[in-house]
Amino acid sequence: MMRGSRYAVLTLALAVAGCGGFIYGCEGPKGGPEPASPPTPPSPPPAISRAAFGTSQDGQPVETFTLRNANGIEMRVISLGGIVTHLKTPDRSGAMADIVLGFDRVDGYLNEPPYFGAIIGRYGNRIGKARFAIDGTNYPLAANNGPNHLHGGVKGFDKVVWKAEPDASGGAQRIVFTRTSADGEEGYPGNLAVKVTYTLTNNNELAIDYEATTDKPTHVNLTHHSYFNLAGHNAGDILGHELMIDADRYTPVDDTLIPTGELAPVAGTPFDFRQSTAIGARINQSGDQQLVFGKGYDHNWVTNGSGFRRVARAYEPKSGRTLEVSTTEPGLQFYSGNFLDGSITGKDGAVYAHRTGFCLETQHFPDSPNKSSFPSTLLKPGETYRTRTVYRFGVQR
Ligand code: GLA
Repeated sequence: MMRGSRYAVLTLALAVAGCGGFIYGCEGPKGGPEPASPPTPPSPPPAISRAAFGTSQDGQPVETFTLRNANGIEMRVISLGGIVTHLKTPDRSGAMADIVLGFDRVDGYLNEPPYFGAIIGRYGNRIGKARFAIDGTNYPLAANNGPNHLHGGVKGFDKVVWKAEPDASGGAQRIVFTRTSADGEEGYPGNLAVKVTYTLTNNNELAIDYEATTDKPTHVNLTHHSYFNLAGHNAGDILGHELMIDADRYTPVDDTLIPTGELAPVAGTPFDFRQSTAIGARINQSGDQQLVFGKGYDHNWVTNGSGFRRVARAYEPKSGRTLEVSTTEPGLQFYSGNFLDGSITGKDGAVYAHRTGFCLETQHFPDSPNKSSFPSTLLKPGETYRTRTVYRFGVQR
């Protein structure tokens, strides 16, 4: 069954290539007379296929790429925002489901606000009062979330078309996204050259490597915004997922979701996920002001340890699917999909109701440019911003 459908996808990809599409790694003339001899050997199976996926608001073509690993995991990404549009993984019986929320067509990503699957930049999460100062110079930013700046502004990295280059060398399949964010974009100083590499490994991982350099001091905090539902993107709310976050502390927020600056202990609060706990177990706990401000979970955890390490694990009991998150970053935004309200219709007609997806966004802490006690997000000329996050997909029997 699985074999059959993979064969069908392959056949379709080859057909697309024949009518003007292109399969990465597939060489040879398109059209023209067939060489008489010697007979051409069959092409190797395509590793990464690419096809058109509509146009952006400013008329640029958007492409979609399909990556597969040796275990049948299939991921589709587009050049708009580096968005992961589809991610199919097996459950404990081997049945595949698409575990990320998304849209069938490019319009959804252009019209709707939830940042499904995208690269977020220049700054993942909020900067208070939409401004910061560097060396005495004030930089006003786009205020796109009440008084605050959120996820890079009005036209953040999620809404621009990136140069996207497939690379199937070395066994794994990857897409390398690059672009230069111009000096002044959304208010930020410096020309920022950015490279984000997605690698789908045969170890069932999506590895994301971020790199950036600048020609003026600036602030950078890149992240990834997939909404996961390990039961399937159209399988109802995520409250039964069990979540572990390896963090003793989190950053409480004010009523506009800007951290107060405190690193508060999670012990004795609904923010204690050190033992795997159902997301829904305490999400409506009355009397918890932080849950009121977040409308649920929408907070940054100060994850334990440093360097590249595992910071979170989610488990969905019915399907058995698991998701592990490892990162070099000091923080993790766990967002329980509180703003989803059923007004968005996504892939296959799925209606994304309240809390039907959750995000685990690795990051520096929100509002770091205005909080000198938080780890710094300042990037200076001559330095290279480098972070790595790995999402690993598995099953628990
Ligand atoms: C992040 C933010 C949330 C919300 C979502 C997108 O997780 O912290 O408040 O903006 O992105 O809707």
